[in-house]
Amino acid sequence: MRQRFTIEQGDITTYAVDAIVNAANTSLLGGGGVDGAIHRAAGPALLEECRTLHGCKTGEAKITGGYRLPAKHVVHTPGPIWRGGKNGEAQLLENSYRNSLTVAWKNGCRTVAFPSISTGVYHFPLDQAARIAVRTILDFLEEHPDMEHVTMVCFDVNTRWAYDAAIQEFMA
Ligand code: APR
Repeated sequence: MRQRFTIEQGDITTYAVDAIVNAANTSLLGGGGVDGAIHRAAGPALLEECRTLHGCKTGEAKITGGYRLPAKHVVHTPGPIWRGGKNGEAQLLENSYRNSLTVAWKNGCRTVAFPSISTGVYHFPLDQAARIAVRTILDFLEEHPDMEHVTMVCFDVNTRWAYDAAIQEFMA
């Protein structure tokens, strides 16, 4: 599985993969952070399609076209807002990763790129989020041998280090 999962530092809007995942909110009507970057790069047609989806529950995922993005599709998932860790946040974050991969896979996507869901504005502790993300992605790759490649695209070096540490821990 390890060779089908890589951790990189970069800007997810530049990835020419079958699907990039958007760390959205439940309205699916755009926002700041990676959500804002994806909508800016995709252009207004993305928001138009998002309006037809009537939102998305936390931990669930919905797919749209990629429009002006190099990626063919965008999979939108609202991750959990961190509220101290006793409100099911860990399970909801796992659901976001798993449901995003499932929706992408069901729509024929075989290369997927993720941002670090919920670790920005939603304040999910980075190290814990990285462990959940790595475990969930590697489990999915084991269950789906035809999922070609998954990339975790880290926007900054601290995020990159957290995911590198998580994968070392997992592979130890
Ligand atoms: N490419 C990759 N990662 C990015 C990019 C980018 N272009 N821009 C930001 N990021 C990273 C952030 O640095 C962070 O590590 O995405 C991660 C997630 O941070 P947020 O975008 O703040 O997302 P999240 O914490 O899930 O909060 C979601 O923020 O933007 C709003 O509408 C969004 O309400 C929702 C909330």
